[in-house]
Amino acid sequence: MTYLVTDACIRCKYMDCVEVCPVDCFYEGETFLAINPDECIDCGVCEPECPVGAIVPEAEDASGKWLQINTRYAALWPNITVKGEPPADREAYRDMSGKFERYGDDFAT
Ligand code: SF4
Ligand code: F3S
Repeated sequence: MTYLVTDACIRCKYMDCVEVCPVDCFYEGETFLAINPDECIDCGVCEPECPVGAIVPEAEDASGKWLQINTRYAALWPNITVKGEPPADREAYRDMSGKFERYGDDFAT
């Protein structure tokens, strides 16, 4: 089992999650972070660190959509272990839903 980053992260990207991970399994895209499910040890430490509640246990991803997204992008993006500067306009996206569908182009690599 793993934890997964989900829609709320997109364009908010606070990065409070990365520094607490004991196995450094976060990967950074321009507008989103992904967890590598093969590296995550399911400790749950990152979940309460995210200010927008974007991190969930795999059990909450019933369709497997976010498992697929995290797996795919963790393999493509570089590892991140140190918190950077979150996007200046992050608050504008905080309560928006369906961000993956709206901003999927951000994920093009
Ligand atoms: Fe890292 Fe633990 Fe979060 Fe998995 S659950 S990403 S191991 S902090
Ligand atoms: Fe994203 Fe939350 Fe981490 S917004 S970058 S999952 S702290």
